[in-house]
Amino acid sequence: MDINLIHKNNPYESFDYKRYPLDLQGWGSTDQNFQSLIEKIQPSLIIEVGTWKGGSAIFMAEYIKKLNLDCKIICIDTWLGAIEFYSDKNDSSRYVSLNFENGYPKVYYQFLANVMHKNLENIIIPFPQTSSLAARFLLLNHVQADMIYIDASHDEEDVYKDINNYWQLLRKNGVIFGDDYDEFWPGVKLGVNNFVSDNDLGLTFTNRQWIIEHKEVLSKRSLNDVHQKSRDNKKLALEYERDLFILRAKYSQLVEQSDQGKQNLEVLENCHREELSKVKMLEQLLSESQKELERSKSDNIQLKQECEQKNQNLEVLENCNREELSKVTMLEQRLSELLVQLERFKSDNIQLIRESEQREKNLEALENSHKEKVSEVAILDLRLNEFLNELERSNSKNIQLMQESEQRKKNLEVLENSHKEKVSKIVMLEQRLSKLFKELEKDKSDAKKFSFESGIYKEKYENLMFNYLSVVRSKKWLFANFLKKIISG
Ligand SMILES: C[S@@+](CC[C@H](N)C(=O)[O-])C[C@H]1O[C@@H](n2cnc3c(N)ncnc32)[C@H](O)[C@@H]1O
Repeated sequence: MDINLIHKNNPYESFDYKRYPLDLQGWGSTDQNFQSLIEKIQPSLIIEVGTWKGGSAIFMAEYIKKLNLDCKIICIDTWLGAIEFYSDKNDSSRYVSLNFENGYPKVYYQFLANVMHKNLENIIIPFPQTSSLAARFLLLNHVQADMIYIDASHDEEDVYKDINNYWQLLRKNGVIFGDDYDEFWPGVKLGVNNFVSDNDLGLTFTNRQWIIEHKEVLSKRSLNDVHQKSRDNKKLALEYERDLFILRAKYSQLVEQSDQGKQNLEVLENCHREELSKVKMLEQLLSESQKELERSKSDNIQLKQECEQKNQNLEVLENCNREELSKVTMLEQRLSELLVQLERFKSDNIQLIRESEQREKNLEALENSHKEKVSEVAILDLRLNEFLNELERSNSKNIQLMQESEQRKKNLEVLENSHKEKVSKIVMLEQRLSKLFKELEKDKSDAKKFSFESGIYKEKYENLMFNYLSVVRSKKWLFANFLKKIISG
């Protein structure tokens, strides 16, 4: 099978698959039955109808690679999801995984990326198409497959149609098989059962997969098997009818719940409308901010350059900063020391405040005593004025006395001069007296001779002595008086 039957250009070419990290989320993608069938059939072509992110196709391709089989897998999918993918918009494995962009799913690119992550581009051929159209295309091109895996829509009619369409593409001795043959997917059960019974075919099961083999010739035993399977099918149909009955009951229950749900839905729709109007506003804001973004992109380039410049500056600043930091740590140490000092100062301060309060009290006492002293000083001032007045008076008296004293000094000088004269006279007199004494002595010696004369001379002498002594006494008295006056003046 050549990829160019479907694609002119290789779909993997120049696809940037790294934008989509590996994500193999799926359902029953690694069932053991895939490997058992590959081993048994040794296929050269597998068709998978319903691929999603490629979980089952990749599982089969890896095994094909391991067995070194020359085999391709055509993956047919619209990559638009099935009906159940749209029932819950919050279902992360279905609706959310469709990964819409502008309303169109991008899950196909996730599938492509997964194949490339696993390096299986040479085995897996994507065919993005509806199952029916793809079947027609392959039929027209005479494509025949050994294994056909049906895992697309799970509705009864779709399942039947898919099996019916692809049955025609199945080689003799090939198998057509599928997933989800269980009570959760009644459409699968019905579709498979109807196809098998309509075509008198055999149906086998594994854990969760159904298998229809395309046998070339039906032997007698096989015919018996077919009859037996037909009987089994009828039994199955009855069981299915029973299941259907139970499901209908469940369905009516669900309808009731759905009514309630509808009401909730209306409320939600109203909220949704409000949200939509908000979204529109936000979209407007978004477009504005996109424009803004464009503007800021160009600003950004400029800013980048500035930033680089700033980075350089920053380095310089960082160096400075380091230095500053070391200074800051020093300052912090200093600060902590200062804080300790401050604590000491604080305690000192408290003491000083106490002392200051004490001093204030003392000051008050001093002020009071000062006031008293001031009043005393005022009194003393008065008295001082009086003294000054007296002093002035006594000064003027003094001047007068000084004048008098000077006058007296002059008088004294006169007196002294006269005293000196008198003293010189006294000295002279004393000299004369001593002369007289000498003469007296001479006379005494002569007294004997002149006893007569002596009486006369004695009288003279006594008179002279008397005069002399009275003169001396009067001089002494004058002198003493003079001295007294000087001392008292
Ligand atoms: C259950 S998923 C397949 C899971 C897959 N086999 C795995 O192992 O993970 C069903 C897939 O079938 C696809 N599908 C549903 N209806 C389809 C249709 N009519 N034609 C083509 N693909 C369809 C959906 O797009 C979805 O990807």
